[in-house]
Amino acid sequence: MKTANNTPALNPTRLWERVDALAQYTVAGQPWTRRAFSDLFLQARAWLTTQFEAAGLTVHLDAAGNLVGRREGRNPNAKPIVTGSHCDTVLSGGRFDGIIGVLAGIEVAHALHEQGVILDHPFEVIDFLSEEPSDYGISCVGSRAIAGLLDETMLNARDQTGETLAAGIARVGGNPPALSMPLRPTGSTAAFVELHIEQGPVLETKGLPIGIVTNIVGIRRYKVMIDGQPDHAGTTPMNIRRDALVGAARVIEVVNGHARSMLDGPDYVVATIGHLVLTPNASNAVPGHVEMMLEVRSDSPAVLRTFADDVMSGVRDRVESLGLQLVCTQVSDSLPTHCTPFMVDLIEQAATNLGYACLRMPSGAGHDAVYLAKTGPMGMIFIPCLKGRSHCPEEWIEPRQLLDGTRVLYETVMALDRS
Ligand code: GLV
Ligand code: MN
Ligand code: MN
Ligand code: MN
Repeated sequence: MKTANNTPALNPTRLWERVDALAQYTVAGQPWTRRAFSDLFLQARAWLTTQFEAAGLTVHLDAAGNLVGRREGRNPNAKPIVTGSHCDTVLSGGRFDGIIGVLAGIEVAHALHEQGVILDHPFEVIDFLSEEPSDYGISCVGSRAIAGLLDETMLNARDQTGETLAAGIARVGGNPPALSMPLRPTGSTAAFVELHIEQGPVLETKGLPIGIVTNIVGIRRYKVMIDGQPDHAGTTPMNIRRDALVGAARVIEVVNGHARSMLDGPDYVVATIGHLVLTPNASNAVPGHVEMMLEVRSDSPAVLRTFADDVMSGVRDRVESLGLQLVCTQVSDSLPTHCTPFMVDLIEQAATNLGYACLRMPSGAGHDAVYLAKTGPMGMIFIPCLKGRSHCPEEWIEPRQLLDGTRVLYETVMALDRS
């Protein structure tokens, strides 16, 4: 494996400084938190716009609220080569998930700009709006809209303040009425390639600098609501309580058990209840209402289709026997997605040409690339992260690892332009 910067056009110091600068846009006392649609997110994007411009890109915001930087190519008929990722985070997340894909794209553009290289194709870098599940419950907001898959129900989803997703998109500068059509129809891009941290331990464990994604899991999310009755916790006898949280505990147990029972089966299956809102949420009140998000991920469309129904029919009697009502509604859905075979080959060739050992591997995390695959060929580059930790403040990569991934991204863009 080479360790020097043998892609001298790239400036690793500038790249790392940008990662550090963008990470600083975080909620005070709650690193690393930069929720899409927040004021902090808009401030980060204002800074990001200056970085796009410094890299010679022309910037605009599309109708879905994606921030797009573009470098024109030589051939006016050529479709754009597109890269990018997201700069929003989960609550108390990491400094690298998403943002390295945007900033590495900017670094590639900056290198082309400094060298005066004009590609045949236009080159675009996109900061997609809200890849992480937003406060409206919908993830991959901007990339879904690019593919025309942000439907009316999603646009009408509301956050805790009652604002609709459509209003949120308009607030950050988008134009929701234009989203009834794909912003980028099938066949409109030459290719999309996204650099991302692996978010798991495989590359680090094997001592490999580069992963080439072969496929990305499908994800279904559901809102699960349990209705009981709020009461005084000191005076209400145990045998007449309708405690919604006890019902929720039963559901959580069955979700976990059902996914574990599939561990040795042929399919990748994980299921999580990671978000829960409890009302009234007081130490001296019987919980009357619980809302939770259930997330199911699998590479099997059949498992994605049946998992929640199987769980709910298995647990419903045990919840209702507590005098509770159980309602489970699907919120969003993405299908398992294969990366385009020639993109897998092309990225592997780029990495190999640079002297990197690499591994073809699946992604258990969702990515904007899933939706960009609807617009044209799609591929993804992974770099390792420390102990595989992600969606937590401990998430870490070394500058060296970021440079490795950015070099592969740069070579991939150049190879795409030649093809
Ligand atoms: C991406 O952050 C995911 O939830 O997989
Ligand atoms: Mn994430
Ligand atoms: Mn991400
Ligand atoms: Mn071409």
